[in-house]
Amino acid sequence: MPQNTALWLPKRGAALEVGPAPFTEPGPGEVVVRVHAVAMNPIDTIPGIAYRIVLPWLTYPAVIGGDVAGEVVETGPGVDHLRPGDRVLGLAVGLERNRNRAAEGAFQQYTVLMAQLVSPIPDDLEYEQAAVLPLTLATAATGLFQSDHLALPLPTAHPVERNETVLVWGGSTSVGSNAIQLARGSGYRVVATASPHNFGYVRSLGAAEAVDYHGKNAVDDVIAAIGDSPLAGALAIGRGSVPRTLAIAARVPGRRRGASAQPGFAVRLQLLGRRRHGVQVSGIWGGTLKDNEIGPAIFTGYLPAALAAKEYRAAPEAVVVGQGLDRIPAALERMRRGVSAQKLVVRI
Ligand SMILES: NC(=O)c1ccc[n+]([C@@H]2O[C@H](COP(=O)([O-])OP(=O)(O)OC[C@H]3O[C@@H](n4cnc5c(N)ncnc54)[C@H](OP(=O)(O)O)[C@@H]3O)[C@@H](O)[C@H]2O)c1
Repeated sequence: MPQNTALWLPKRGAALEVGPAPFTEPGPGEVVVRVHAVAMNPIDTIPGIAYRIVLPWLTYPAVIGGDVAGEVVETGPGVDHLRPGDRVLGLAVGLERNRNRAAEGAFQQYTVLMAQLVSPIPDDLEYEQAAVLPLTLATAATGLFQSDHLALPLPTAHPVERNETVLVWGGSTSVGSNAIQLARGSGYRVVATASPHNFGYVRSLGAAEAVDYHGKNAVDDVIAAIGDSPLAGALAIGRGSVPRTLAIAARVPGRRRGASAQPGFAVRLQLLGRRRHGVQVSGIWGGTLKDNEIGPAIFTGYLPAALAAKEYRAAPEAVVVGQGLDRIPAALERMRRGVSAQKLVVRI
């Protein structure tokens, strides 16, 4: 049995430490992956106190991290779309309320993944670049397709163009980079916000219009960009995005529906006392797609072929900031300072 090593979070608020970890065999519907690259996400950087609010169920010691790319080494019963030796990306769900298992955290050499959240990747896609996708892909897909959020039709290889617009406020974020591509895969016209230096980037992912979110006129500029193509729904990503997408959805033709990348309690706080104009905004939790048909539809039904056909890009750009589990704390520190259309990645 292989030796495993993990980056442990010994208890809430403690420093992360590298140490030996058990090698866990895959259960039904699971695979074990030898991790070759992991990516950093904002949730990996939250301070200890925030764990009480965001992940109150978590037991310790824990292994955090959501984004994995690597090689399948073992498959559990009932897994027939993956084999040992497959190069894959996958979403690690160890922090989820109904998993809560260190064996399923990303930041270790061998991790257990739910096979339905694992996608084979093309030979020419490097592990480091593939690792940028899982968590933010899951978050965007949850917001766009899950029945309790925008409930849009799933993406397909040959989408029918629809005369409706999806607004992605925060288009140059990692979540937004996936949302633009997924909405295009479902045939929608996309209007995205970004800083001007990222206009070319969001257009390269499929946005028809790019709007600067910094200016005083950002709301009016987005409304002008949406024009008379009815709104199918809005994704609100980034600080200040909820009130502004609410204001936009209230003033354009189409559906008065938004979903925010902030969790439900944070969205409810921002909506307190605001006039809603009939606009409904829900808070996304990216891991929820593991419990419904959206997870397998995206990770096994859509993504592998879309990546192979180059219809879907592993974006944003991976910036490799080190090698080894012991480099992750410094990578998280750099993530806290902020990135722009980049994803920080560590080779394992
Ligand atoms: N609910 C969930 O399950 C879930 C999961 C993953 C992430 N999230 C949340 O989603 C958000 C995005 O995460 P991420 O990993 O995609 O972020 P990220 O890639 O680190 O975001 C960086 C980008 O944010 C943009 N940005 C900064 N401030 C903004 C603002 N006020 N409005 C719009 N865009 C802004 C910047 O764009 P420019 O450089 O173009 O200005 C920058 O490119 C975070 O708040 C994160 O906590 C939630």
